[in-house]
Amino acid sequence: MDARQMKIKAAEVALSYVEDGMRLGIGTGSTAEEFVRLLAEKTAEGMNIEGVPTSERTARLCLELGVPLKSLDELPELDLTIDGADEVDHQLRLVKGGGGALLREKIVAAASRRMIVIADESKVVDCLGAFPLPIEVNPFGLTSTRMAIEKLAASMGLSGEIELRNNGREPFMTDGGHFILDASFSRIPDAEALANSLNAIPGVVEHGLFINLASLAVIAGPAGAKTLTK
Ligand code: 5RP
Repeated sequence: MDARQMKIKAAEVALSYVEDGMRLGIGTGSTAEEFVRLLAEKTAEGMNIEGVPTSERTARLCLELGVPLKSLDELPELDLTIDGADEVDHQLRLVKGGGGALLREKIVAAASRRMIVIADESKVVDCLGAFPLPIEVNPFGLTSTRMAIEKLAASMGLSGEIELRNNGREPFMTDGGHFILDASFSRIPDAEALANSLNAIPGVVEHGLFINLASLAVIAGPAGAKTLTK
């Protein structure tokens, strides 16, 4: 199985958790896009679901493929969200936001009774942090916010570059009009403490640590898919 086939496998298994009539949060990224393609086949065959996309990118793909969409305000409580991840640890804590959609992804996941993560086995880690942690920040006061994050990191014994994500020559702009700082901490031994402390910095809009949100991960490897639970 190549990398794409593993993503498709994980998406296929996740699709088996989708039931007729469900209100679904639909994730962002290349793995989530495989899920959207499979979901579109099901809806074309008559499965009745309503989806809430976690990004403009996902919304465009759903519209192109005919997956019925609603806004989160129209469907404020969801049955299930299926989304990818940049890292998954054995407690199903995640790093997300590699695709820049972490804020909407977290809002949608938090509005869902259940979140299932789909990923290939390269995303499973013993300790979060090798993937740079995306931190979504308000453009106003960017330098102050970055300094506050640096001070916080130092106080927690975390070190590493904190870089503004760019899109060509311009800062990358999220769907919400914010910037992203990618923090290369290498290891985040206390993800809960970092998550809470980042939330206390005023310029931080959201961060990519997803804790107590996912209850199942479908992890695909060359030999097939397995599930991880807490
Ligand atoms: C987007 C995300 C994605 O779920 C994450 O980056 C994984 O993407 P991919 O499936 O392409 O590896 O968090 O913000």
